[in-house]
Amino acid sequence: MPSVFIKTYGCQMNERDSEAVAAQLIAKGYSLAQSEAAADVVLLNTCSVRDAAEQKAINKMKNVVGHARKDRPGQIVGFLGCMAQSHGQELIEKLPDVDLVLGTQKFHRVAEYLDELLAGKREKIVDTAAEAKSESAIREHLLNGSAKTSVSAFVSIMQGCNQHCTFCIVPSTRGEERSRTIPDIVAECRELVLRGVKEITLLGQIVTSFAKRDVPVKDGKTAFVQLLEAVHEIEGLERIRFTSPHPKGYGDDLVEAYARLPKLCESAHIPLQSGSDRLLKLMHRGYTREKFLGLIQKLRQAQPGIGLYTDIIVGFPGETEEDFAQTLSLCRAVGFDNAYIFKYSERRDTPAATMPDQVPQSLREERNHRLLELVNTIAARKYDAFIGRQVQILVEGPSKKNAARYTGRTRCNRIVLFDGSPRHQGQLMDVKIERTGSFTLYGDPAIVNL
Ligand code: SAH
Ligand code: F3S
Repeated sequence: MPSVFIKTYGCQMNERDSEAVAAQLIAKGYSLAQSEAAADVVLLNTCSVRDAAEQKAINKMKNVVGHARKDRPGQIVGFLGCMAQSHGQELIEKLPDVDLVLGTQKFHRVAEYLDELLAGKREKIVDTAAEAKSESAIREHLLNGSAKTSVSAFVSIMQGCNQHCTFCIVPSTRGEERSRTIPDIVAECRELVLRGVKEITLLGQIVTSFAKRDVPVKDGKTAFVQLLEAVHEIEGLERIRFTSPHPKGYGDDLVEAYARLPKLCESAHIPLQSGSDRLLKLMHRGYTREKFLGLIQKLRQAQPGIGLYTDIIVGFPGETEEDFAQTLSLCRAVGFDNAYIFKYSERRDTPAATMPDQVPQSLREERNHRLLELVNTIAARKYDAFIGRQVQILVEGPSKKNAARYTGRTRCNRIVLFDGSPRHQGQLMDVKIERTGSFTLYGDPAIVNL
């Protein structure tokens, strides 16, 4: 049977989609190739959120088809996911050697389309149409494909986003919000736990909007909190995480869940985007700086040790030095454990792309640099504060760089490296933090709970 190599760009949802595609292909008899050179089929699962991510995948594809033409006749190559959705047929016009372009609602059809291409029944396939119930079609998991994934798994709970932030292409690449049912999600989680998974991360572009039209608020609890409670009931599951919530939908019921549900890890990724009320409005974010700060305060009250992570965009159209100063001051006020900073990138057909006062690239670079410096200084201080403390980690497996070292995560989502062995794999254990590296903690397994 043919072998396939899948390369993934972008977010955790893309990783999850790729994993489901790989599992689906393996079930049909395909094998996973270690490199694109050794593969009969090469698939790039793409990201469109910024131009740089698109260019990376296009350059990669140019390279793959260049080699295929010379050395690998008959190799099938394809684009999947967000860029495939947003550019469709254009991608084949640009790169005529590409055989397959499949949009974000078609991941479950990869095997059937590859069969047709490999059998020579069709020469090219482009499918970016909407498909009902595609949100429930990504179910397969590949737990043994990588040692790390067997302990911790992603579960997709919804697709799409209706928020339409003015900079963001996701509502057009991923479509309207569609949620799976709570029993369906719980059944998938249960199955994963039976297969040895101890930690589940619930995924969606805007999980705070989960099933809000389908499941009424009950006892003050939104559908998403009801889902958390249902997943929390699963025996054998140790840890629950989710990403990404939206500050606008982050109600008191969700804040209280942190204090109430012990399996819910004290870690939150809450995208901020900007600290300026004027820009938040132009971005169509639906909250103010004060509201955001209030939310952080409540979360810290509920869980004082909570790890707080965020996304910030610099150089959004019209961003003045004063707006940027507001972002800096908000970062100082919150003290994020880490922040992902992005230079604003114009996306096709988004309102921000045609807004006046686009910020010159050089200024985006400069602000990126300044914000990064601040964020890193604060983050390093937070890391140093762990030295001498004992923390619980879930051991994921050997570290990629050094096989004698094992890697795990704290409940607040920090990576810990320690001298481990295969018997530690999948264990929840306590380690004492001895020193810190760049965004890493080094621990000593003081007490091992075997
Ligand atoms: N709701 C999703 C957002 C996906 S995009 C989530 O939170 O995972 C991920 C991040 O990319 C956003 O939070 C934003 O900070 C950044 N981003 C989105 N569009 C962008 C653009 N046009 N330019 C630069 N950064 C962008
Ligand atoms: Fe994008 Fe805003 Fe939704 S960032 S994914 S439109 S919440």
